[in-house]
Amino acid sequence: MTYQLLFVCLGNICRSPSAENIMNHLIEQRGLSDSIRCDSAGTSSYHIGAPPDERMRMAAAKRGIRLQGQARQFNITDFGKFDLILAMDRENYFDIMALARSQQDKNKVRLMCDYASHYPDQEVPDPYYGGESGFNYVIDLLLDACEGLLNDLSDAQTQGE
Ligand code: 4NP
Repeated sequence: MTYQLLFVCLGNICRSPSAENIMNHLIEQRGLSDSIRCDSAGTSSYHIGAPPDERMRMAAAKRGIRLQGQARQFNITDFGKFDLILAMDRENYFDIMALARSQQDKNKVRLMCDYASHYPDQEVPDPYYGGESGFNYVIDLLLDACEGLLNDLSDAQTQGE
């Protein structure tokens, strides 16, 4: 069975598409493309249809990662489609939780930074209104958190076998 991951931020043009594409990059490196699938969405409708922010794409490119995708808005049917929903910050987390219809839905929602081990952050900071360094920071923090998440999923899979 394919495990389905959904990364969520506010606009779906900076943090969550970065998380999605970084995770895909790591999944490919580990040859796990058949067992884990990734998608991303925004809690807002602000940028529906837009590609990832150019500043974010530049920061990702410096780490050898190409950002692809088209922004879409999170909706309640996503609770049924995904196994794990990763919120970039607390506001995203509470906005997703407010749409949950059951305890089963709520159990799928986590904060992305729970999986980071080298950074102390509890939230992925919103880089949208800041400078270049904020975008670089998001990529490095997400590389750490995605690595941790993938290790966690690999451990869970091994234990379930
Ligand atoms: P994201 O960043 O949630 O990481 O995609 C933002 C994108 C757009 C806006 C805010 C944050 N905005 O206010 O338009």
